[in-house]
Amino acid sequence: MQVSSPKISQTTELAHFDLNNESAYTAWRQRKYRAYPQSTEDLLVSVSHFPNLTEGEYTAIHALLAKANLCVYQAKDPARVDKSTIKQFAAQFGYKNLDTNICADKDSISLLQTKDAGRHASYIPYSNRKISWHTDGYYNKPENTIRGMLLHCVNNAPVGGGNQYLDPEILYIHLRDINPEFIRALMDEKALTIPANKEAGVERAAQTGPVFSLDNRSGCLHLRYTARTRSIEWDDNPLLKQALAEITRYLASDSAFIFTHKLTAGQGVLCNNVLHNRMAFEEQEAPESKRLIYRARYYERAANT
Ligand SMILES: [Fe+2]
Repeated sequence: MQVSSPKISQTTELAHFDLNNESAYTAWRQRKYRAYPQSTEDLLVSVSHFPNLTEGEYTAIHALLAKANLCVYQAKDPARVDKSTIKQFAAQFGYKNLDTNICADKDSISLLQTKDAGRHASYIPYSNRKISWHTDGYYNKPENTIRGMLLHCVNNAPVGGGNQYLDPEILYIHLRDINPEFIRALMDEKALTIPANKEAGVERAAQTGPVFSLDNRSGCLHLRYTARTRSIEWDDNPLLKQALAEITRYLASDSAFIFTHKLTAGQGVLCNNVLHNRMAFEEQEAPESKRLIYRARYYERAANT
């Protein structure tokens, strides 16, 4: 399946994010909640042929991305799925330009697996520790904003290793319904600073920016967030502090909008960089039975979502 060019939405799309436009917001919230997935089963789509999806497969996945910014796929034949077919799969939704990082392979796809030594060893994704709530690339420069993300499970750990996911638009609604000023504080350009750092010999400049923003490419809501508390600076603003406390509380809650799922071999998550975390895990020692996840990060979100 091929998609048409990405929508460049404007006035009408943005109206519901205008804090002064209550009627547009209320109508959008109503549409958002209508037929929203209730469980991980509702997010699951079986896929037979990744490089060229059937119309039914494409439509089902696109509908989930448009509704919830997230879908979980299940390969009918996991042995036929590799890094190349995953790229072809994602490209059909408009995910085309991959971000790279110092730990990624030459094809810009990272193999997430525990490492005891080398440049990967100091990064949490390459350990068996838990990873707290975040969106990918919150430390990236604006021009390298991560709008899409794919995790494909080749093998999971026997104990732990599950994930939780939350659609950023649901978080936005939750916060705006409590206090619209929370949204204003979170959209402040000075809200979140990741200090300059040197990792694996590579200098990274400090990155300051908002938590919620309206993506100038798509007109859609973008979330830049990490729950980590070290090497991070929040602007000294009482409303921002209250908003962050509410985010922390909500992410730890049993909200029906937070999906919990442990990927099994051949399953994956395709999403518009939704909030996610990872539980700690215990794996078997044998190299062939270690947990292995392919991760691809894209500069695009899915077209027309
Ligand atoms: Fe992540």
